[in-house]
Amino acid sequence: MKSTRKFGPVVAALAAVLLTGGLAACGNSDTGGGSGTADDGKIVLGFSQVGAESGWRTANTTSVKDAAAEAGIELKFDDAQQKQENQIKAIRNYIQQKVDVIAFSPVVESGWDTVLKEAKDAGIPVILTDRAVDSADKSLYKTFLGSDFVKEGKLSGEWLVENKKSATAEVNIVELQGTTGSAPANDRKKGFAEAIAANPKLKIIASQSGDFTRAGGKQVMEQFLNSNPKIDVLFAHNDDMGLGALEAITAAGKVPGKDITIITIDAVKDGMKALADGKFNFIAECSPLLGPQLMDLAKKVHAGEEVPARIETEETTFTQEQAKEALPTRKY
Ligand code: AHR
Repeated sequence: MKSTRKFGPVVAALAAVLLTGGLAACGNSDTGGGSGTADDGKIVLGFSQVGAESGWRTANTTSVKDAAAEAGIELKFDDAQQKQENQIKAIRNYIQQKVDVIAFSPVVESGWDTVLKEAKDAGIPVILTDRAVDSADKSLYKTFLGSDFVKEGKLSGEWLVENKKSATAEVNIVELQGTTGSAPANDRKKGFAEAIAANPKLKIIASQSGDFTRAGGKQVMEQFLNSNPKIDVLFAHNDDMGLGALEAITAAGKVPGKDITIITIDAVKDGMKALADGKFNFIAECSPLLGPQLMDLAKKVHAGEEVPARIETEETTFTQEQAKEALPTRKY
């Protein structure tokens, strides 16, 4: 008893530290525990980012952080390191902190209903940014802000149909998919497949996930090259996987952009350089600059204003010539 009394305050203090730390410990947070309500009356936005897997993601994080500062919104940021369980923990942490608005870019489409219901029950509006969820109950979130990923895949496929219209032999395509179960991987695959169905000579002979990373793109492309003697086209679901694949293609003694036609999605600076240099052949743009629109939406949903259910980003496509023109003023 004596020793309990002596160590009681220390144990209590330790427990408090562990509890606060535990609640904040999910992924990689810039702002951890504590009350979510800003003392200065600022709107507090809890944002759970997918990770830092690509150039696109880095540009998106910068856009969100810069826009929050510009809009006078206090941002609590968490990097989920591409793990759904980290995103769920971060969202629960934001609910517990009573933030004003939660936004997140869901790493995969499924499995969000329970945590979204918890946010709804706590009266905290949720904004989906960049990636969608497949929840049947649309009342679980206020709006979606991001790209039409099916369209990006379709535009990529349509360019290929046009580019290979005079092909007399079968055209063998390999596909580097994004993160398994993610909206961009599902939708880009679908849009591309629908578009190339216009020409039965265009055949996808192998399709595998490279998880949207350069390392993944390189590793899977090596496997594709080892098991397929004739590869005519690579469709990569993002620039980073395409850039990783370039290394594998060059190491295999092939000339990217010539021996193998390369189509990617995003149009980040490194991808655009590869396109302007003739190593890529076509890029469908996916804009990461969602920050300013996200902050506008956060203010509106916080004020209880109605917002559109879906807001799509305006995007374009680039050929090699167009990339040369666009590169000097490219923002990301
Ligand atoms: O969700 C957008 C996709 O995620 C981008 O195309 C890709 O680069 C990122 O990792």
